Amino acid sequence: MTSVKAMEKSFYKDVLTGLRSVPKRLEPKYLYDYRGSELFEEITKTPEYYPTRTEMRILKKELNSISDYIGDEAALIEFGSGSSEKIKFLLHHLKGIKEYVAIDISESFLLQSVEKLKKEHQHLYVHTVCADYTVPFSLPSLKAKKKVLFFPGSTIGNFDKQERKTFLNRMSTLLTKGDGFIIGVDLKKDEKLLHSAYNDAKQVTRAFNLNLLQRMNRELLANFMVENFEHKAFYNHEEGRIEMHIESLKEQLVTIGEEEISFQKGETIHTESSYKFSVQEFQNLAKEANFIPKKVWTDEENLFSVHYLEVKA
Ligand SMILES: C[S@@+](CC[C@H](N)C(=O)[O-])C[C@H]1O[C@@H](n2cnc3c(N)ncnc32)[C@H](O)[C@@H]1O
Repeated sequence: MTSVKAMEKSFYKDVLTGLRSVPKRLEPKYLYDYRGSELFEEITKTPEYYPTRTEMRILKKELNSISDYIGDEAALIEFGSGSSEKIKFLLHHLKGIKEYVAIDISESFLLQSVEKLKKEHQHLYVHTVCADYTVPFSLPSLKAKKKVLFFPGSTIGNFDKQERKTFLNRMSTLLTKGDGFIIGVDLKKDEKLLHSAYNDAKQVTRAFNLNLLQRMNRELLANFMVENFEHKAFYNHEEGRIEMHIESLKEQLVTIGEEEISFQKGETIHTESSYKFSVQEFQNLAKEANFIPKKVWTDEENLFSVHYLEVKA
């Protein structure tokens, strides 16, 4: 498992590498320090951010069917558990979940969320794993015989082509016949709806994105003047993804520890992509990674999809 110290070290290294590359980019996982996790929770409550609401609606509507797929005695293993809100809902209604593994990179937010969950579900076996799921790590040994992986929130959309292939392949090696994988996938849709979801009126997404500059100031002794940068999010039609960037409003020099990074006016740091898929596109990806798509649930407006996958024998 990646230790927290090792993660801190790689943050510095990755920031320097990312900001020295052309174009500048940082991995989306770095958006999630404690403040970033809090802001993400706020984003999910904005009227423009349809994914969380819609995914929850699907889980509520399809509860019985989801319960049948999960079965009577399963361990649910959640990647990127955040506030664990979705699992709280499932735990409340599905008696077949006997054990829960919460995995997240945002350590103090993870510990706080799991503490709350444990109080509400005292008979559940709960494991807390602070890890970076983009690199292999070991899972705790489980009591339940059946494993069901849970990857909601369309976080799969944050990976580029190669990364999502690697991730899905790794997920399939964690499972054996009869296990399952529940994954939330955001669907292609009207670009205006997408645009406003990442440019909300209260500017919470802006604060979430710019928090990355503050995080580098706090943790890496950087001197970003946040007022000299702006949030920028748009749909890249060709790539089929929302891109989130931080744009430099002027030519400037920033110090990170002992290193200097220069910015041109208008130059951006690409901080997150959020790919959108059709049901068929996602199922094809799943099949390439040795999965059999068993079931897909969607909402009435076809905004979001939740898939149940099993591995090929
Ligand atoms: C888009 S949020 C989704 C949160 C929640 N699962 C939901 O559906 O609302 C992504 C979550 O994954 C976590 N995360 C992002 N990158 C990660 C990584 N590389 N390893 C582990 N957790 C990560 C974040 O801290 C955050 O809680």
